[in-house]
Amino acid sequence: MVAPADRDLHQDIDRVLIADERLQARVREMGRQIEIDYRGIDDLLLICVLKGAFVFLADLSRALHRPHQLDFMGISSYGSGTQSSGAVRIVLDLKQDIAGRHVLIVEDIIDSGRTLDYMRRNLLARSPASLRICALLDKPARREVDVPVDYVGFHIPDAFVVGYGLDFSEIYRNLPFIAVLKPEVFAG
Ligand code: IMP
Ligand code: MG
Repeated sequence: MVAPADRDLHQDIDRVLIADERLQARVREMGRQIEIDYRGIDDLLLICVLKGAFVFLADLSRALHRPHQLDFMGISSYGSGTQSSGAVRIVLDLKQDIAGRHVLIVEDIIDSGRTLDYMRRNLLARSPASLRICALLDKPARREVDVPVDYVGFHIPDAFVVGYGLDFSEIYRNLPFIAVLKPEVFAG
């Protein structure tokens, strides 16, 4: 899908599910909880799952007042539609060795659970000191693989959502809220 340059993305939105202010307030809360849970732990490393989690990571990282490092991992699990292809692959790997480090995976959304299950296994094999998962959104109705998620921002219903980093066909990531698109957008 190539969107014309003069298209206003807001005209494609059916409804806003989570407004900007609610997102910001919840991310700050999650940051406070993470600070409490990692008190006394020196080397916290946040791993952002690209691309979807880049906005969440930027806000969560700034919500933390404690020192931490960041790294990025590129994972591809979807084609250009709204259904997972089922196959997960690494398209960009970490820059650093995580052996002995305290690692927190930062993900946009857990849907079937396949992406995080794959990432979790892959990172555990690299012997981190600890490994936890933080997901902004959770669609529990869609779960196919059971994955332990330590921090969840919002549980949402089974609808395809965009905004705040999440895309449809690589568009809509820049919307500052979480929204559902009009049905005709999916029809192309
Ligand atoms: P899972 O492997 O099925 O859990 O899917 C996780 C990945 O699929 C996420 O990292 C997202 O990139 C993508 N995804 C799942 N649901 C949505 C959605 O509603 N909107 C946009 N992307 C989604
Ligand atoms: Mg993603």
